[in-house]
Amino acid sequence: MRSETAQLIKLQDYKETPYVIENVSLVFKLQPEATEVISTLTLSKREGAEAGTALELDGDDLTLTSVAIDGAALAESDYEATPKKLVVHAPPADRFQLEVVTKVNPTTNTKLEGLYLSQGIYCTQCEAEGFRRITYYYDRPDVLSVFTTRIEADKASSPILLGNGNPQASGDIEGTDRHFAVWHDPHPKPAYLFALVAGDLACISEKYTTASGTPVDLNIFVEKGNEERADWSMDSLIRSMRWDEKVFGREYDLDVFNIVAVSAFNMGAMENKGLNIFNDKYILADSDTATDSDYEGIETVVAHEYFHNWTGNRITCREWFQLCLKEGLTVFRDQEFSSDERSRPVKRIADVIRLKSRQFPEDQGPLSHPVRPTEYKEINNFYTATVYDKGAELVRMIKTILGADNFRKGMDLYFERHDGDASTIEDFIKCFEDANQIDLSHFSLWYHQSGTPVVKAKGSYDEAAKTFTLDLEQINAPTPGQDQKKPFFIPIRFGLVGPNGDDLAYSSAEGAQVDGDLLCLSDNKQTVIFHGIGSRPVPSLLREFSAPVKLETGLPREDQIFLMRHDIDPFNRWQAAQTLMTELLIELTNGSEPTGKDAFIEALGHMAADENLDHAFRGFGLMLPSEQAIALEIGKDVDTDAIGNARDAFSKEIGVALYDTFKRIYDALEMPATFSPDALSAGKRALKLRCLTYIAASAGEGSAALAKAHFDAADNMTDRISALNCLVKFELAGAQEAMASFEERHNGTALAMDKWLGVAASAPSKDTIGALRTLTEHSAFSWDNPNRIYALIGGFLGGNTRGFHAADGSGYDYLADITLQLDKTNPQVASRMVKSFGTWKNMNADRRVKAEAALKRILEADQQLSTDVKEIVELCLD
Ligand code: TRP
Ligand code: ZN
Repeated sequence: MRSETAQLIKLQDYKETPYVIENVSLVFKLQPEATEVISTLTLSKREGAEAGTALELDGDDLTLTSVAIDGAALAESDYEATPKKLVVHAPPADRFQLEVVTKVNPTTNTKLEGLYLSQGIYCTQCEAEGFRRITYYYDRPDVLSVFTTRIEADKASSPILLGNGNPQASGDIEGTDRHFAVWHDPHPKPAYLFALVAGDLACISEKYTTASGTPVDLNIFVEKGNEERADWSMDSLIRSMRWDEKVFGREYDLDVFNIVAVSAFNMGAMENKGLNIFNDKYILADSDTATDSDYEGIETVVAHEYFHNWTGNRITCREWFQLCLKEGLTVFRDQEFSSDERSRPVKRIADVIRLKSRQFPEDQGPLSHPVRPTEYKEINNFYTATVYDKGAELVRMIKTILGADNFRKGMDLYFERHDGDASTIEDFIKCFEDANQIDLSHFSLWYHQSGTPVVKAKGSYDEAAKTFTLDLEQINAPTPGQDQKKPFFIPIRFGLVGPNGDDLAYSSAEGAQVDGDLLCLSDNKQTVIFHGIGSRPVPSLLREFSAPVKLETGLPREDQIFLMRHDIDPFNRWQAAQTLMTELLIELTNGSEPTGKDAFIEALGHMAADENLDHAFRGFGLMLPSEQAIALEIGKDVDTDAIGNARDAFSKEIGVALYDTFKRIYDALEMPATFSPDALSAGKRALKLRCLTYIAASAGEGSAALAKAHFDAADNMTDRISALNCLVKFELAGAQEAMASFEERHNGTALAMDKWLGVAASAPSKDTIGALRTLTEHSAFSWDNPNRIYALIGGFLGGNTRGFHAADGSGYDYLADITLQLDKTNPQVASRMVKSFGTWKNMNADRRVKAEAALKRILEADQQLSTDVKEIVELCLD
């Protein structure tokens, strides 16, 4: 083991800097291998700080060329410069100018943090701590400053020069083949929102006028030749801007809004002020290369980054422990946007599937942490489903508890009170309290206490007394670092469903805070009695998934089927089906023959064929829980082979039993002649393809031919990739031919080939790892581009449960190899991959032994591990 021990950063150690940075002037002399960065900071001592206090700036991998104060070079004894910091021991005045020159190499920057080159395009990624890889600075979110950036570059290779804020000047640099541009951002901001881009880019443009009449130029820059694939993003951007004006009263605040798509990017996108930089996966779309879910993802991410302009940029975070202040809130906002643009219940189902598949496993394993953590070693590791998606759920609960109007009052106060601030979660919650004269201290526990609560509910009806009694209990198991748990404040939306499917009214309720269809559980155990109930109800609890908990109702199967058919809350109709499927699948995994299976399959057929329901909803209704979801539900001594086999057998059984229904729906769904990504068309495709999947699973006569015909006839990526997946997953005749034909068609289009890599990585195989190794040699794959790695390796880890958790440990070994290899070039990506070990403790004993050995091998490898990977592996082994 040859890694340095990373420092534990603690919230309680937070201290303001002794100096403030009044303004920043940056000059970038861009060169592929040696870019010079001249930074001039106007610094002044903060009130209360001692005169002459040392100035300590952050750096990472930096080479200092020179340092001067107020025009005079510093003597060597006046400062200390290492790759990681610059210390000026005793600044000569309370206010002074510091001029620092550093040199960086964009070409060899494989971490994709700081300044790097992606396909000949210079770009930056500074969140969370990338700015310190460009120049020495107070690289922390609570130091806000006004930035002016001058960019100089070769005219021929970099005709486009972009920075934050508004363009101020541009021109040729006389006597050279270079030119410059100056950008000025009037809004004070932390360094993580800094960005620049230079390159030979094409763009599409629109004019936008804000609600109050200010014109804004909108531009989306892409690699030349991709202009036509950016229209959907532009459309999404314009709709996002209108929506934020209408729903939150927030307008844009600069003359221009630029978006740039680059192909090498670690995450989805970045909200740099006035210059969002995107992973091209979230900008580029046309019907031939993008699926319906890609279109949806683009709409969501474009909106998300735009919404950050207010929630993140104008109001930023005091330190990174407050990350959910901007991320949870902004995810909530993008979810609401998509709900308003599409179908609200369908969007809610999609968001809950995402939460349960990503956040629940995290919160129930060794990587569990609070939405607002109090310590970390590597901040990059905390851009998690918990911070983002559970963070959004917490904001949603505030809205549920307060109601829409009072929620808006709190948001208005937040924008008014904290505009220009680096804030905290406490500040945020206080706004809802002050705007509504209410105490949210009990609710706030959600931000600090980790883990997924289990809520148990048991109802009983007393016919004589006309009362319905609901016994509620919340169970909060210990999580890492939190042995003792307090009860959460849990809002439960509910209905008492009467025999004809309508909700029954109650005359009064006692035992908990109950108001209309909202019940709030605040203790470990509570008994709620509803009076005036005329007939035996079936309780429908946690409607709209009103809290991020695991609900156990113990309802008999016939009651679940009843809810599946009759609940007025579409979310809970879907949930009832999911609960039943999960129960049945667990019993099938254990080798027993469950009761009620046939009745369930019949009800599923009804749901699939119910013309009163949204197509997309019916598609989701038919979806079996994933192998991972079943594994999480089983929770311990998991045998992934047994789960996978049971799930395959069950989908075959459903496919056989409902073959006629699926075929009828499949045949009846006519698609328009030209592709459109709108929600209705996408929903029809989803339902049709779900039917095709069951037909393929049935392995009945003609099912292979139908899947192959669907593939051959596809005029869009959604149909093509889904049909291909059916052929490959069920090992149907024509699968190989279809793989080859897809490859031939999309060869050279990276984002399309990513999907092919994903299908290949999840294909059943006797030698999964051998197949993967071969695929890494394919020309469509590259270890240098995160999207290729997420497609192939991520496709394996997330989409090939039996392969990754193979009993012989080969999958774990492969992940250990890959982690060690990737860590040398891109620790952020390596760390995201290694997180797949997060569920290892749930596996059965044989698998645990193999997983633990693989994890230990990473720690003990003869190479310097990044703090990113080391922290995750150590948490997993803890
Ligand atoms: N703030 C970005 C978002 O909108 C996340 C992000 C983009 C990021 N790039 C990053 C986080 C690099 C850490 C490192 O969600
Ligand atoms: Zn974000």
